[in-house]
Amino acid sequence: MAEKWKERAVIVRQDEIATNVYSIWFQTEKIAGAAKPGQFISIFGEEGSRLLPRPISICEINKEKGMVRVVYRVAGKGTEEFSHYHAGAALFIMGPLGNGYTLKEKRALLIGGGIGIPPLVELAKQLNCERQIVAGYRDEIFLADALSKYGTLTIATENGSIGIKGTVIDAIKEKGIEADIIYACGPTPMLRAVKEYAAEKGIEAQISVEERMACGIGACLACVCQSKETDSHTNVKNKRVCKDGPVFQAEEVEL
Ligand code: FES
Repeated sequence: MAEKWKERAVIVRQDEIATNVYSIWFQTEKIAGAAKPGQFISIFGEEGSRLLPRPISICEINKEKGMVRVVYRVAGKGTEEFSHYHAGAALFIMGPLGNGYTLKEKRALLIGGGIGIPPLVELAKQLNCERQIVAGYRDEIFLADALSKYGTLTIATENGSIGIKGTVIDAIKEKGIEADIIYACGPTPMLRAVKEYAAEKGIEAQISVEERMACGIGACLACVCQSKETDSHTNVKNKRVCKDGPVFQAEEVEL
């Protein structure tokens, strides 16, 4: 199994980059040294009553400076607590966790929805080929500057306030974007549409289904999703998103 660490990591900076969406850079040499795009870290709160950490995907990795960036939305007490810390504070984090994307040198289409967009930043940075990026937001956008540094960015919003009005698939069709491989991360309905689109086009799609994660460490089973293949240990068609994923080949999982 790949190596992972649990350590107390200092927050280098924290910023609110959109309403209720925060970005933290952690100083964490070992995790930064080992992390790959699509992996995540678990962050532990300091307030004792909540023992389960929050799994949050890695947005950027800076190996030279030994830093890792996560971008998260405040969606409960745990993430609310994280949003109150400033530079200089330290939190226990564990990682890198999960399997990450398998990078291929093919014309790439990166698709992200909402809080599934952050991992695409590091992925786009590390891919060494033509990159089209399609990001779908409800209304307010974030990380658009970071994404457009590493590829051609197309934005879709539900209400059409910015970019193309509609879903990420609407935007891909409207712009006639072509690709040989898809990497996606976002809410389940979006991933379902991406899976269908990739099957239609006959291209490979790697999808990250991290939305379903809870504990992030294999303990709670909240993240189980149905798979096509029977698991050799348990003999059932299940996969734990946090252990076997969060990135899967689209045809491997039922959404
Ligand atoms: Fe708890 Fe996977 S998130 S077992």
